[in-house]
Amino acid sequence: MKLPNITILDEKDKRLRQVSKEVSFPLSQADKNMIEDMLLYLKMSQIDEEREKYDLRAGMGLSAVQLGILKRIFVIVDEYEKGQFKNYIVINPKIKSVSEELIYVGEGEGCLSINREIEGIVPRHARMNVEAYDVNGNPFSIRVREDISIAFQHEIDHLNGKLFTDYIDSKEPFKNAEMMREI
Ligand code: NI
Repeated sequence: MKLPNITILDEKDKRLRQVSKEVSFPLSQADKNMIEDMLLYLKMSQIDEEREKYDLRAGMGLSAVQLGILKRIFVIVDEYEKGQFKNYIVINPKIKSVSEELIYVGEGEGCLSINREIEGIVPRHARMNVEAYDVNGNPFSIRVREDISIAFQHEIDHLNGKLFTDYIDSKEPFKNAEMMREI
């Protein structure tokens, strides 16, 4: 596999703090290429051999803004079984409903734009219903759960200029843990 030629912005880049704009259809060829590049990059980052070869960090999701493109587009690649990947391409997402139940990643969330370890609780809804558009501009609804729900919330935050570190109280990174379920 050939690593896509993309540059992921670092957390210090101010563009990551901007709100991305809704996308109109049809998508440009450049946007379609960007989506393919993001998907392949994430997949390669999850394959041990490729990750080592290219010195990557493993990542599950990327938003267009992380490439400096301020459009409401994100992708997620989920290795649901060894060597089996499911791609999510999500454009102009709207959260329609969320579970009351909150969860968090026990080992801490990660982000390809944040190149340091940060511990602490990021409260996320355990389940959500989301409406969005696919690459062809067709609307779809999706119900997401657990790690995929967390990934969706993490990426939707990117579209709104928010990073997971914003949720963490550095003085008390594990506060309110008893109110949530660890995954
Ligand atoms: Ni991120």
